[in-house]
Amino acid sequence: MRDDKPLCTWERSTKSPEQTQSLAEQLGRLLQPGDVVALVGELGSGKTLFSQGLARGLGVPKNFYITSPTFAIINEYPGRVPFYHLDLYRVSNRAELSELGLEEILYGLGAVAIEWAERLGQDLPVERLEVHLKFLGEEERDITFLAFGDKSAKRLTTLMGFYKEVMEKS
Ligand SMILES: Nc1ncnc2c1ncn2[C@@H]1O[C@H](COP(=O)(O)OP(=O)(O)OP(=O)(O)O)[C@@H](O)[C@H]1O
Ligand SMILES: [Mg+2]
Repeated sequence: MRDDKPLCTWERSTKSPEQTQSLAEQLGRLLQPGDVVALVGELGSGKTLFSQGLARGLGVPKNFYITSPTFAIINEYPGRVPFYHLDLYRVSNRAELSELGLEEILYGLGAVAIEWAERLGQDLPVERLEVHLKFLGEEERDITFLAFGDKSAKRLTTLMGFYKEVMEKS
């Protein structure tokens, strides 16, 4: 990962895949062109599921099934904002990374979700929202959001505000 410091962080736990998906969908609704969501977490922690939620929130039609793009590396879906879903699991070295021409996507006009984002190291954009997923139990995950730039801090603050409101109402 980069060694910069987040402007803002937020931690939540979810108790089911549905809760994770709905949290991601809520975030997806807030995403704008150029936003980058960097997903970090072990195999099976929920990165693809989270990306599916983002896609819903971005308005990717339901008939597009978001699978892990492990073999394609990059998948593109139409939505309110174009959605690029990347999976860097199989990228083993820097030469392969540079061949992908990621810059155009990372600094382009779509919203981007990257599984195994830590593989980008210092090439991760400064302006990004990191989402770290950890196992707490079979159906329980700890999800930590870290906003590393003004834009992502704004998205995260809005997301936190939304959940605060929901909790106050219930
Ligand atoms: N609270 C939860 N949040 C997210 N996923 C959960 C939760 N509870 C159970 N799961 C299950 O964990 C699995 C997560 O799989 P997913 O493919 O999203 O992981 P991944 O991080 O993308 O793995 P990989 O590294 O192989 O790409 C799914 O089968 C999902 O149903
Ligand atoms: Mg995955």
